[in-house]
Amino acid sequence: MFLQAGSFVQLLTLAIIPVAQARPQSYAIWAADSAIARGQGNGLGSTGAPVVSYEHGEFQWGLRLLYELTGNQTYFNYIQAGVDNIVFPNGTVHGDYNFTAFSQDPIRTGPTFIYLFQKTGQAKYKTAANTFRSQLDGQPRTAQGQFWHKLIYFNQGWLDGIYMGEVFYTAYTNAFDANNATAWGCAFNSTAPNNTGLMYHGYDFSHTAVWASPDRGHSPEVWDRALGWYAMALVDVLEMAPPNSGALKPTLLKILNVLAPKIRDAADPASGVWWLVITQPGRAQNYFESSGAVMYIYALLKAVRLGYVVDGDGSIVAAMKRAYVYAVANWVVPNSDGTMGWKNTVSVGSLSTTGDYNYYVSQTVDLNDLKGLAAFLLASLEIEKL
Ligand SMILES: *[C@@H]1O[C@H](CO)[C@@H](O)[C@H](O)[C@H]1NC(C)=O
Ligand SMILES: *[C@@H]1O[C@H](CO)[C@@H](O)[C@H](O)[C@H]1NC(C)=O
Ligand SMILES: *[C@@H]1O[C@H](CO)[C@@H](O)[C@H](O)[C@H]1NC(C)=O
Ligand SMILES: *[C@@H]1O[C@H](CO)[C@@H](O)[C@H](O)[C@H]1NC(C)=O
Ligand SMILES: *[C@@H]1O[C@H](CO)[C@@H](O)[C@H](O)[C@H]1NC(C)=O
Ligand SMILES: *[C@@H]1O[C@H](CO)[C@@H](O)[C@H](O)[C@H]1NC(C)=O
Repeated sequence: MFLQAGSFVQLLTLAIIPVAQARPQSYAIWAADSAIARGQGNGLGSTGAPVVSYEHGEFQWGLRLLYELTGNQTYFNYIQAGVDNIVFPNGTVHGDYNFTAFSQDPIRTGPTFIYLFQKTGQAKYKTAANTFRSQLDGQPRTAQGQFWHKLIYFNQGWLDGIYMGEVFYTAYTNAFDANNATAWGCAFNSTAPNNTGLMYHGYDFSHTAVWASPDRGHSPEVWDRALGWYAMALVDVLEMAPPNSGALKPTLLKILNVLAPKIRDAADPASGVWWLVITQPGRAQNYFESSGAVMYIYALLKAVRLGYVVDGDGSIVAAMKRAYVYAVANWVVPNSDGTMGWKNTVSVGSLSTTGDYNYYVSQTVDLNDLKGLAAFLLASLEIEKL
């Protein structure tokens, strides 16, 4: 059933890739298999040391969906081996994990711990998930209840962190604490979003960071990937939140319904994809960045598929399909060994800096960056469901 992808995808496939190229008939499978062939997302860093990394968590999320779709044990085994590289048999999370740094980033591997506990019943995965949950219990929050991104970032909420912290918080509450109304009430306290426009990368509730605007405390620019993380968090949290989660679902549906058309309309009219710094279209050194685009495709197609956003005139789905065609034509590169490469993902964007335009456009652009490649896997899974 899986390989009977829509004619849209088949046409796309034939048009873009030489038929002789030995590769799976699904971009989702090709992306996953290529990352696995390179040893990406397996709980180890480039030196072979264990790393508790959100991009591994993001990739594992895609592998899990692929496993559930295909039943292919290879994907499950890869997820489990990756987690076993960062969780000792007694459940201690190790590698570069530092509890007292109160960073939201490593927490994004937590949903995988919960999934493995549910699938295998092994207590070590629950113990590891409990460690992250107790980190979040002690995680500093702003007066409005939003998690600080890290202890060192006083009073700062970053959009990226919502994908790291809140998705885990929701998965944990869903799995172990589903009738706790207090927990549901605190699952997604991102009070800062300004839904009259696209959202800035970060907010400082104390307005003291070098990048904070004096009036509202936001960072200067809308960075495509930060908004991509946030959009993915909205749909993933909505999917996991049960009906008894109080105000959570109505609140997120409201945000998503404001944001989805704005993301659609923010695409560059000529290419159909988004500038790295969305707020500065066409400015010198700005470019079409690949990770944000595939995050939007995943999030918005999933939002429409699950009925969170009603796409009455089909314009959201059409825009995402158009962006996907661009992504495949421009960012997927067939390698001679049969794997695919993934281009044009910016390596980093951090508010430990000035957070201004020159900062974002001067960051390295990577080949095969897992943050983008994992999101391409997720976007492809949605496209192949159309
Ligand atoms: C499972 O996926 C792997 C990697 O793509 C592939 O080599 C293998 O043939 C697949 N197994 C089955 C039973 O389809
Ligand atoms: C868990 O196992 C690791 C590795 O063997 C060990 O260093 C650590 O002390 C153990 N922790 C506890 C709480 O037993
Ligand atoms: C862990 O984080 C805390 C708080 O930022 C820091 O003081 C400490 O040095 C860190 N520990 C390690 C081993 O890096
Ligand atoms: C999160 O926000 C809700 C609704 O405003 C509030 O009731 C709750 O106390 C907040 N949680 C925290 C931990 O601040
Ligand atoms: C419910 O969740 C809150 C917030 O996480 C927590 O403080 C409290 O202990 C939980 N209650 C129970 C009965 O587990
Ligand atoms: C949201 O942003 C718009 C446009 O920048 C601004 O006019 C408006 O005052 C902001 N609203 C809030 C509540 O911050």
